[in-house]
Amino acid sequence: MLFMCHQMAMKKEAQEKQKAEQRRRAQAVSDIPIIWILGGPGCGKGTQCAKIVEKYGFTHLSSGDLLRDEVASGSEKGRELQKIMTSGGLVPNAEVLGLLNAAVIRAKGTSKGFLIDGYPREKSQGIAFEAQIAPADLALYFDCSEETMLKRILARAAAATVKRADDNEATIRSRLHTFKCNTSDILELYNEKTLTINAERDVEIIFMEVVEAIDCMLQKKERAAKVC
Ligand code: AP5
Repeated sequence: MLFMCHQMAMKKEAQEKQKAEQRRRAQAVSDIPIIWILGGPGCGKGTQCAKIVEKYGFTHLSSGDLLRDEVASGSEKGRELQKIMTSGGLVPNAEVLGLLNAAVIRAKGTSKGFLIDGYPREKSQGIAFEAQIAPADLALYFDCSEETMLKRILARAAAATVKRADDNEATIRSRLHTFKCNTSDILELYNEKTLTINAERDVEIIFMEVVEAIDCMLQKKERAAKVC
């Protein structure tokens, strides 16, 4: 009996330590702006992120790129990920969040801000991110029709020297379906911090709206830091 009590106390202590560590990490990261970049396949997430990096010097973490790096490593895990990605489905969140978390930890000492591109893709992903890493300050949702997204990805694939394994019509349709099934839940849950941007327009026009939203978020964050 005494032994069981001791074991339970040890387990509780370990859990408390783990929670304290998570709180400490979240505090360290939450001083840095975090922006989620949301939208369907081909809506222009990567294109806008490149422009944001150029203007603000933020750290761009694309969940798709991190997964493709793992695939390119040739590991057993990479082969499993590849199967899921070429089916157009979602990789288990433990894998995606693990890769994002490691990348945030590597960059947080020097980063001016994080662009989390292609995440969350499910409501539960957003909840896990905010609990384990830090709350997002802003979410930018690039709203685009399926027809436009399909056309853009097919055009990208036609022009590419190295074509992505998931940039074929069947997989694109499956990616679009996956996106459609999950997005309204995310937008509903994070309504207050999400700005929906019409992504059917010219890249530069879209970017002007992006800049306005980021500047506004940065000012709010600065004011909040002064009050604290
Ligand atoms: P990921 O790599 O994130 O792909 P995606 O979301 O399908 O988006 P893309 O990278 O294809 O497009 P984009 O929106 O960045 O558009 P881009 O700027 O390139 O994910 C791949 C897979 O990984 C997923 O299917 C899933 O299996 C897995 N995965 C990723 N994240 C996950 C997660 N969180 N959980 C679980 N699994 C995950 O633009 C496309 C083209 O359009 C370009 O040629 C560009 O030049 C052009 N373009 C862009 N903007 C415009 C414009 N305004 N006008 C005209 N052309 C434009």
